[in-house]
Amino acid sequence: MQLSEAQLADFEDGGWILLKELFSPEEVAVLMDDVPRIFALRREEVVREKDGKTPRTAFAAQYYSEPFRRLSRHPRLVEPVSQILGGPVYVHQFKINAKAAFDGDVWQWHQDYGTWSRDDGMPEARALNIALFLEDVTACNGPLMLIPDSHRDGVLGAGHDRATTSYPLWTLDQETVTALAAEKGMVAPLGKAGSVLMFHGNLVHGSPGNMSPYSRTIVYISACHVDNHIRKFQRPEWIAHRDFTAIDCLPDDCLTAPN
Ligand code: SIN
Ligand code: MN
Repeated sequence: MQLSEAQLADFEDGGWILLKELFSPEEVAVLMDDVPRIFALRREEVVREKDGKTPRTAFAAQYYSEPFRRLSRHPRLVEPVSQILGGPVYVHQFKINAKAAFDGDVWQWHQDYGTWSRDDGMPEARALNIALFLEDVTACNGPLMLIPDSHRDGVLGAGHDRATTSYPLWTLDQETVTALAAEKGMVAPLGKAGSVLMFHGNLVHGSPGNMSPYSRTIVYISACHVDNHIRKFQRPEWIAHRDFTAIDCLPDDCLTAPN
C-alpha cells in the first residue's frame, strides 16, 4: 500500500497521519483474540503497572504470538513506512500497550527518538512509530496526545524519569511542553479499532491515565531505516532489537488467511 502525495505532505508538515479503519474488524479480532493470553504471561517482556498486576505493555510480542508475528510483516504497515523513510526498514521495537480500564497509567511527555538516540545509539531520526488501534480510541480512554510539527525541533532536553510509572522514560519538562504547545497546539487523534496512526520519531507525545471502564489496546511498531540501525546495545534485545534485516512483507491477507 502506498501513501498519496497529500498524505506524505501531511506527514512531513505535521509529523503524523491517521489512516482511519485501515484494518477490518475481522483482522483486528484475530489480533485481539491473542491479547488476553499475552497479557497473562509471566515473562520479563510483559511489564506491569506500579500495582504489580495490571498489564502496561508487552514488548516483542511478535516473538511469542503468531498473529502479531504476521502483523510485524504486514504490507499495509511496512510499505508506507518504507515510503516515508525512503528505503527498507527493520523492526526496532514492538509493543502492545494495554492502557487498561481504570488502572492504565500515564505515559509522560516524551520523544521516542530521544530514547533511541540516548539509550540505543540510533544515528538519526530516520525511524517512526506505527500505532494500530486494536480498540476504539476515544476522548475518554487515555488517547495519545501529540504536539504537531514538534518533530522539527530535534532532540529536546529530557530527564530520566524512573519514578512516575513502572517504566523508566526520558521525559520533557513542563516548561518545554508549555512553550511548544503555545506555538504549535496539541491534538488527540481519535479513531475506531483498525485505525493506524503513524508519527515521526521526534514528535512530542504522551497520554493521560485511563479512568474509564474502556481499555485502549494499541500495538506499536517502531520501524527504522536499515542503514540507521542502532549502535549501542545496553538495553535488552526484547526492548531494542538487534536483527537489522529488512522486513520481508507477507501477503495483504496474512491475518485472515494465514498460509
Ligand atoms: C508510547 O509513547 O510509547 C506509548 C504511549 C501510549 O500508548 O499512550
Ligand atoms: Mn512514545
